[in-house]
Amino acid sequence: MSKIPIFLIAIAMNTMFTSCSADGQWTFGMTYHVHIINGFKNNSNPLKVHCRSKDDDLGEHKLGINGEISWHFKVRLDGSTLFYCDAKKGQHSKHFNAFDATVEGSKCDISSHCYWLLAEGGFYFSTDNFTWMKQFEW
Ligand SMILES: *[C@@H]1O[C@H](CO)[C@@H](O)[C@H](O)[C@H]1NC(C)=O
Ligand SMILES: *[C@@H]1O[C@H](CO)[C@@H](O)[C@H](O)[C@H]1NC(C)=O
Repeated sequence: MSKIPIFLIAIAMNTMFTSCSADGQWTFGMTYHVHIINGFKNNSNPLKVHCRSKDDDLGEHKLGINGEISWHFKVRLDGSTLFYCDAKKGQHSKHFNAFDATVEGSKCDISSHCYWLLAEGGFYFSTDNFTWMKQFEW
C-alpha cells in the first residue's frame, strides 16, 4: 500500500526536474563550482573580491596575478541561489552577479564550472577556463 504514493511522487518529481532543465534552468542536484580569476597583468595594486549570498559571506580576498578564488554549492530547490560580488582594483570597481541560478545555472551545467576572468578590458565568462566571452566593462 505505502509503495504506490512513493512511486507517484517519484514520477512527479522526475517530471518537474526534467522540465527544469528543458526550460534552460539550473540542473537540480548538480554541484556547481564558481571560479574568479585575476587576469590583470599589472600587480601594482591588488584585485580585491568579496562575494556573498543571502546565507554566506565568503569574505574579502586579495588576488595576485592569475590568483583565483573558487567555491561550490548546490542550487536551492526553488532556484533562488544567488552569489554576488564586489570587485575592486585601483580606480576600477564593480558589483556583479557571479552566479544567479536562473542565468548561470543553465550556462554552467555543461561542465558544472563557471569561470570569471577579471581583467583590464572587463569581465570575461567561460565554462571551460579556455573560451572566454566578454560580458561587461568595469
Ligand atoms: C601599473 O599600474 C600603476 C598604477 O595604475 C602604474 O603607475 C604603472 O605604470 C603600471 N605598470 C605597468 C607595467 O603598466
Ligand atoms: C585555468 O587555466 C589556467 C591557464 O591554463 C590554469 O593555470 C588554471 O590552473 C586553470 N584553473 C582551473 C581552475 O582549472
